[in-house]
Amino acid sequence: MKILIIGGGGREHAIALALSKSPRVDKLWCVPGNAGIASVAECFPEIKATNLESIVKLAESLKPDMVVAAPDDPLIMGITDMLEERGFRVFGPRKEAAIIEGSKEFAKKLMAKYGIPTAKYKSFTDYNAAVAYINANPAPIVVKADGPALGKGVTVAATREEAIDAVKAAMEDKVFGASGSCVVIEECLKGPEVSVLAFTDGKTVVPMVSSMDHKRAYDGDKGPNTGGMGTISPNPFYTDAVAAECMEKIFLPTVRAMNAEGRTFKGVLYFGLMITADGPKVIEYNCRFGDPETQVVLPRLDTDLCDVFDAVIDGRLSSLDIKWKKESAACVIVASGGYPKSYEKGKEIKGLDKVDADATVYHAGTAFKDGKLVTSGGRVLGVTCFGRDLDEALSKCYKNVDRITFDGAFYRKDIGKSARK
Ligand code: AMP
Ligand code: GLY
Repeated sequence: MKILIIGGGGREHAIALALSKSPRVDKLWCVPGNAGIASVAECFPEIKATNLESIVKLAESLKPDMVVAAPDDPLIMGITDMLEERGFRVFGPRKEAAIIEGSKEFAKKLMAKYGIPTAKYKSFTDYNAAVAYINANPAPIVVKADGPALGKGVTVAATREEAIDAVKAAMEDKVFGASGSCVVIEECLKGPEVSVLAFTDGKTVVPMVSSMDHKRAYDGDKGPNTGGMGTISPNPFYTDAVAAECMEKIFLPTVRAMNAEGRTFKGVLYFGLMITADGPKVIEYNCRFGDPETQVVLPRLDTDLCDVFDAVIDGRLSSLDIKWKKESAACVIVASGGYPKSYEKGKEIKGLDKVDADATVYHAGTAFKDGKLVTSGGRVLGVTCFGRDLDEALSKCYKNVDRITFDGAFYRKDIGKSARK
C-alpha cells in the first residue's frame, strides 16, 4: 500500500518510521518532509503543509491508498474534507471536528455545555472588557489567543500586568494575527500535566500510552512556551485510577459531545490534562498527534500503525487489539539558539554518526544544503531512547544528545526530572 504523509517535523518522522516498518506499506511519500524523513519516504520540500491546493494536486498525481494529515494547520483549514471529496482515504479529522483545536473558545464552550472538567474561563473580543476582567480576578491568570499560534499563544501570567500585556500583544499588537482577535482568559490550575493521545473513530476511543511534555524553553520550567522541548512515556502521574476517571469524565464525554454537535471526530484526539486536587481537568485539546509526544508514544506501539489508521478510517476501531511495549521512552529536543524567538538557520549538524544504534534521532527542522545536513527550524532534532525505566531511557538520551553538535544548539537538561522518584 502507498501512503502520503502531510507534515515535515519530528512527529511526521516518527509516523513515517512506524509506517515504514509495516509489511503492508510499500511506498511512502511525505510533503514537505525533511532531511531525516527522506531516508524512509520520498519528500516534496517545495510544497508547504499549508498549501492545500498543491497538496490535493500532488495526491491526484501520486494516487496514494491513504493520506495521513498530521499537523494542526492543514487539518484546521480542511485538508481532510478536500481530499475526501476527491475520493481519498484520509487519516485525520474533518474541518468541523478539527475546530476542537482551531478555536479555544469552541473547546471551552463545548466543555461547559457537556460538563467536561476544565478551568473556569471567559472569552473576549473587546480589549477593555478583557482588561477589566483581569483587574477583577486574582493572578496568576492564564491568557490564550483563541486561534492557532504555533503553541505560543498561551501566557501563564504571574501578575495582572503580565496578563494585560499578553492581551495587548494578542488583541492590539496582533502578534498572532487573526488568531488573537478573541482571547480566552482562564483560571490558573495547579498540578502535574499529562498528555494523552487517543485514537478514535467517533464511536470507540482508545487512549495511547501516556506522556509528559516540557513546554517551557529552559530548565526548571523557565522561559517562554515552545512547541515542546522533550517528552517521557509513560507519565507516572497518570495512574490507573486517573486513567479510569479520565475515560469516564473526559474522553468518552468529549467524543459523545462532538457527535451530539454533528462534528464526529475521527483521528487522533489529544487531551492535554492537568491532574489537580479536584481531579483531572482539560487544559487543551489538539486534533492530532502531539509533537514531541509522538516521538515517545509511537515507538512504544506494538501493533501495525497502518492497521490502526485503517480501523479508524473504516470506523471499526473496537475490533482492534492495540498493544504497547512495556519499556519507558524519553525524547530530548535539540533546538536552535534563540528558539522559540528568532534563530538562525543553515548551521551544519555533526555527530549523528556517533549516535548509538538503539537511539533514534527524529529530524524536526533539518535540510540538506550543498550535500551537508543543516538546521532549518527552531526545533532541529529529537533523540529518543528506550529503557527498562525512565532513568535508563533518559541517561541513554543525554549520552547521545551530547554527541550531536551544531552552532548555537541548546537543549533542556532536566527532561523527566519532575517525574523521577
Ligand atoms: P496550551 O498551548 O494550551 O497547551 O498551553 C500551554 C501551557 O500553558 C500548558 O501546557 C500549561 O502548562 C499552561 N496552561 C495552559 N492553561 C493553563 C491553566 N488554565 N492553568 C495553568 N496552566 C495552564
Ligand atoms: N507538544 C504539544 C503539542 O503538540 O501541541
